[in-house]
Amino acid sequence: MKDYRDMVVLVTGANRGLGRAFVDALVERGTGKIYAAARNPQEFGLPGVTSVRLDVTDRAQVAEVAHSASDVTMVINNAGVHLRSSVFDDDCVDVVDGVLNTNLLGSLAVSAAFAPLLIANGGGVIANMLSAGSWLAGPGNLAYAVSKAAALSLTNNLRAELGPRGVQVTAIHAGFIDTDMMAAFPGPKLDPRAVADEALTQIAAGSQEVLVDEMSQKAKAAAALPVPRFGS
Ligand SMILES: NC(=O)c1ccc[n+]([C@@H]2O[C@H](COP(=O)([O-])OP(=O)(O)OC[C@H]3O[C@@H](n4cnc5c(N)ncnc54)[C@H](OP(=O)(O)O)[C@@H]3O)[C@@H](O)[C@H]2O)c1
Repeated sequence: MKDYRDMVVLVTGANRGLGRAFVDALVERGTGKIYAAARNPQEFGLPGVTSVRLDVTDRAQVAEVAHSASDVTMVINNAGVHLRSSVFDDDCVDVVDGVLNTNLLGSLAVSAAFAPLLIANGGGVIANMLSAGSWLAGPGNLAYAVSKAAALSLTNNLRAELGPRGVQVTAIHAGFIDTDMMAAFPGPKLDPRAVADEALTQIAAGSQEVLVDEMSQKAKAAAALPVPRFGS
């Protein structure tokens, strides 16, 4: 069982929503050090929390943060966007491109920058905030669903490469959470703090996959870990 008191955790998109809930839950666990990364960083005034500026789509900023936060032992790729998009929209390719840039390539950039540091620091954890939407499809959800399905594949491939180097790579899936992202959805919705708490508890226990709610469990349907490797 991992002890958060011994860990140095970076959370992306830490300023609001689920990211902020992760920060609060980490503080409550007495986490050794927390880097709260955000596009517009704020002072949290919480013990052990350091604010850092990070737009996950800005490769130079990602490199700077990896340089300055080289003691990190756990990364939570939480930053994400949801834009309504449909194949009937004239700009659907551009919208999907933009959402992929954050939800997929942003998580990849952060993971790639921190993976060597995690290994050098004796292993560690990369936790990717995915969604029940990783396995779902529906009108208007083109960009988000594609991005989360791709981010699930990213997560599985990170695990295949980093697992043997001692890095735990965990996928977190949840249905609707009560944050700005789902403000227009009438509910019912999960409490972001409850999602963060469940994810942190299961990550500490070594879980590679956290299915926070029934919606995620049902959405996963036939998919199952471990993901078969090419050639096996
Ligand atoms: N809400 C749900 O129902 C739900 C369900 C399953 C999974 N999720 C996932 O949970 C994660 C957090 O979502 P949320 O519900 O907390 O949404 P939210 O309330 O909309 O917050 C999104 C967070 O991501 C940050 N962000 C967006 N683009 C960024 C970028 N390029 N660089 C750095 N930060 C960026 C935002 O920062 P700014 O304040 O600067 O915009 C904000 O802090 C996302 O990955 C989302 O896909 C959400």
